[in-house]
Amino acid sequence: MDFENRIVSPDYNFTEDEAELSLRPRTLNEYIGQDKAKDNLRIYITAAKQRKETLDHCLLYGPPGLGKTTLSGIIARELGVNLRVTSGPAIEKQGDLVAILTSLEEGDVLFIDEIHRLSRNVEEILYPAMEDFSLDIIIGKGPSARSIRIDVPRFTLVGATTRSGQLTAPLRDRFGVLLRLELYTPEQLSEIVIRSAGILGIEIDKEGALEIASRSRGTPRIANRLLKRVRDIAQVEFDGVITEKTARAALERFEIDELGLDDFDRKMLEIIIKNYCGGPVGLDTLAAAMGEEAVTIEDVYEPYLMQIGFLSRTARGRCVTKLAYDHLGIPFVCETPQQSMF
Ligand code: ADE
Repeated sequence: MDFENRIVSPDYNFTEDEAELSLRPRTLNEYIGQDKAKDNLRIYITAAKQRKETLDHCLLYGPPGLGKTTLSGIIARELGVNLRVTSGPAIEKQGDLVAILTSLEEGDVLFIDEIHRLSRNVEEILYPAMEDFSLDIIIGKGPSARSIRIDVPRFTLVGATTRSGQLTAPLRDRFGVLLRLELYTPEQLSEIVIRSAGILGIEIDKEGALEIASRSRGTPRIANRLLKRVRDIAQVEFDGVITEKTARAALERFEIDELGLDDFDRKMLEIIIKNYCGGPVGLDTLAAAMGEEAVTIEDVYEPYLMQIGFLSRTARGRCVTKLAYDHLGIPFVCETPQQSMF
């Protein structure tokens, strides 16, 4: 399957990002879900504002599509400062980061997406910038080279990553606030779908929203995308209103089942069951069998399958649970000692 065009991929069809912008909440009060992260942020932001200080650097981590970029925009807005957005892979050279840091205004938020992909060279510039708001720059080469220290405006770095484990310890240690974003519950996603439908002028009832929400893999980006596709079908084939019936008909057409699994998920579970007796199977072996990159399987497919209890990660590899066998209608025959744990 073509991963980029998978309708339940959090990265599906980048051209839709523009439309998604209008759906993004702009304040903490508008932001649904992630209550723990939100409550903490609210306190830290209020405290920093009361003390007229910059907010400590924040690291947001968790699966893709959960609103890390959105939250960084909210942080900047709540602080009343500018937001600068960039990403780890976009900052190629030390000079790129120096240019960004020296052009910030006092108190600004600098958002670096995929911060685990910064090169070590660039990271080294970031350490003194995060700690002392200064840069150590080498000027010249060879014996005449000298190091100068320049100050940069105080700023808040908001880093986002799907893989906090891949961050180097010195970088991770320089974040004062660590916020883990969790997959959303169907009820929270349903609220998001109703809010988005309101903004887009789509008629939807509660049951229709919950039907879309339950099949969105805990991810607002997917829920909003499915909402738009279901609207198309409701408009062309029904009376334009999204109800449970129209949502079901549309989602069945997309081959997304009641739990939000698509062909790719089902194929992955079936491969583990049929080729590896349900597991354990190593991530790299599984990735090769699926023709997909290991990081994609780990970041994109596994979190949801684990959340719904279909997959477990053990020291020896991935195992499919009895719940998944039941969902796929495959008899659970416990032949291998590894599987007796279920
Ligand atoms: N749209 C996307 N994510 C959202 C969220 N967490 N709350 C409200 N609307 C959203």
